[in-house]
Amino acid sequence: MSHERRKLLAGNWKMNMRLAEIEPFFQKFSAAIQQKSSTSPEILFAAPFTQLSATLAMARTLGLAVAAQNMHEAASGAYTGEVSAAMLTDLGVRNCLLGHSERRQYFAETDAAVARKSVTAIKSGMTPIVCVGETLEQRQSNQTFEVNGKQLEAVLTAVKTAGLPASRDAWYPGDLTDSLVIAYEPVWAIGTGLSATAEQAQEVHAFLRRVCSEVVDSAFANRVRILYGGSANLSNVKSLLAQPDIDGGLVGGASLKPADFAAMCL
Ligand code: PGA
Repeated sequence: MSHERRKLLAGNWKMNMRLAEIEPFFQKFSAAIQQKSSTSPEILFAAPFTQLSATLAMARTLGLAVAAQNMHEAASGAYTGEVSAAMLTDLGVRNCLLGHSERRQYFAETDAAVARKSVTAIKSGMTPIVCVGETLEQRQSNQTFEVNGKQLEAVLTAVKTAGLPASRDAWYPGDLTDSLVIAYEPVWAIGTGLSATAEQAQEVHAFLRRVCSEVVDSAFANRVRILYGGSANLSNVKSLLAQPDIDGGLVGGASLKPADFAAMCL
C-alpha cells in the first residue's frame, strides 16, 4: 500500500551565511513564501553550528525546521572541537545532516561512522538526514547501485542492530517517517550545475526504496522520505519532484538565494 509522503525541501547552507545575513535572508524568504499552502512542502535549513541559534530564532516564527550539518557519534567526552546530539537538542535542533559527501570526502567519514552517528541521532530523539551518493568515477564504472546500496545498508543495518525496531509504532521516537530521512546526492551533481536528470534520480531513488524494503520492511520503505540533492534549482525542481520516489530536495547553492529557494518550496 502506498503512503502519502509529504514533500520536504531542505536547504543546506554549508559553510555560508554570516550572522548579520540571517535576518535579512528570512525577511526576504518569508515575503516570498506568503502563498505557501498546507500542501506545500515542509521546509528545513541546515546551518553551521555557530549560526543555529540565530537561524532557529528566525525559522521558528515561520514554522520551519532547522538542522545541524554534522554531529559526533559519542554522547560526550574528550573530543575536542566536536558537538554532541544532546548539545543540539539542548538548542531545540532535532535534525542533522549525516554523511554528506563533503564530510565523507574531506573529513574521511566512513560508512561505519555515518551508521554510528545515525544510531546516536535516532536514540537522541533526532531525525537524521542521511546522505548517500556515488562519484562520477563510480557512475562511469557502473557502481552506482552498489555504492549507494552499501552506504544505505550500513545505516539501516546499524539502526536495526541497535534495537531500534522497524515497526512504525515502536521506532523511537515514535513516528517512523520522522525517524530517518534519506538524501540521494550524486557527488558529480553537487555544486557543478550538472543535476541528475529526473529519470536518473528516480532510478536510484526506486532502488534505495527497495533497499529499505529488503533491510527493514515494506512499511518503512513506503514511509521514508528520499530527497534528491545535487544542483537542484528553480528550473529543475518541479520535474524532479514529480517523480514517484522523489520526496523532496536537499538544496545547496540555490538555498542561499531566498527568493529562489522560496519559489522552489511552493
Ligand atoms: P548543490 O548542493 O545544490 O549546491 O549542488 C547540494 C548539497 O551538497 O547538499
